[in-house]
Amino acid sequence: MIQTVVDKSDINVISETLDPFINIEEEIDRLRKEKNAVILAHYYQSAEIQDIANFVGDSLDLSRKAAETDADMIAFCGVKFMAECAKILSPDKTVVLPDKDAGCSLEESCKPDNFKVFKKNHPDHLVLSYVNCSAEIKALSDIIVTSSNAKIIIDQLPKGQKIIFGPDKHLGAYLNKETGRNMVLWPGTCIVHEQFNERELIKLMTRHPSASLVAHPECPEEILKHANHVGSTRSILEYATKASGTEFIVATEQHIIHQMQLETPDRTFIPAPGSDGTCNCANCPYMALNDLEKLYFAMLNEIPRIEIPEELRLSALKPLNKMLDMTPKNVNPASKIVAA
Ligand code: 13P
Ligand code: SF4
Repeated sequence: MIQTVVDKSDINVISETLDPFINIEEEIDRLRKEKNAVILAHYYQSAEIQDIANFVGDSLDLSRKAAETDADMIAFCGVKFMAECAKILSPDKTVVLPDKDAGCSLEESCKPDNFKVFKKNHPDHLVLSYVNCSAEIKALSDIIVTSSNAKIIIDQLPKGQKIIFGPDKHLGAYLNKETGRNMVLWPGTCIVHEQFNERELIKLMTRHPSASLVAHPECPEEILKHANHVGSTRSILEYATKASGTEFIVATEQHIIHQMQLETPDRTFIPAPGSDGTCNCANCPYMALNDLEKLYFAMLNEIPRIEIPEELRLSALKPLNKMLDMTPKNVNPASKIVAA
């Protein structure tokens, strides 16, 4: 059983004791030096967290960074499966997650007992899992992929290889289309990308005829089919800041717009709409649980801290290492990671 160690269990009560006169950014910086910590942040984190992080990246960038860091502490500003990856890859580091409840709907959709049945029903299939899953699911998998390297990894597998893919059915369907495979898909979805609405999107595109649409492959097909570019968060960021054009509709979690705006302040980025025509659906409620105060307390108290039993860690490490080995160096070159 994976533990997120929280010995002072109510973090919110702890944060009420924070001296309102302290400068939280300065205090986090002090702790970063004192504890030889590195702060890793996903693009879906709030702007203030992205701004204080040492590195901001997509799931592949952050896994690589966690594997190679020589820091003593990794303060992981993202969700739990990401912090678990950091611990699996860097077991000697202290890995903290600002909010222990920062989960993921994909991870929640895929419980190990049910996944074992899925595997058993497809005995001669290779088990390919999206990184958005628990360490237990990773341990039951042959290879892990992220949205940055999934196609490249699938293309390396023998043509007739039967594959089961979980837990994201939209990413799986997109990959089936892109690779010509017929992977059997686990029926999980991301609650953020699932809420974009085609009808409202078409209305928005009609009002902004020169805007390009960039979309994450966790979106359903009816959204992806309108996109000018489909890719991981980092790939979307690169396209939206480098492709020609000045207006982009962004069909992924909207906090990535912060990096887009930092890199290209003169461009316009519009979050894709949900069924009520607003962009409110484009917020990941799990990612939003982290904030600067919780980051400060996590670094100070070293809780919530990720601990993984060694046997489970070693089983989950194998498919993660396979992913890193099968990912060519030119996928997400390291120099492109944003450094604070
Ligand atoms: P990437 O940043 O790897 O594209 O993943 C997106 C995501 O949903 C993370 O939870
Ligand atoms: Fe999970 Fe979706 Fe949130 Fe990413 S955006 S952490 S896939 S719920």
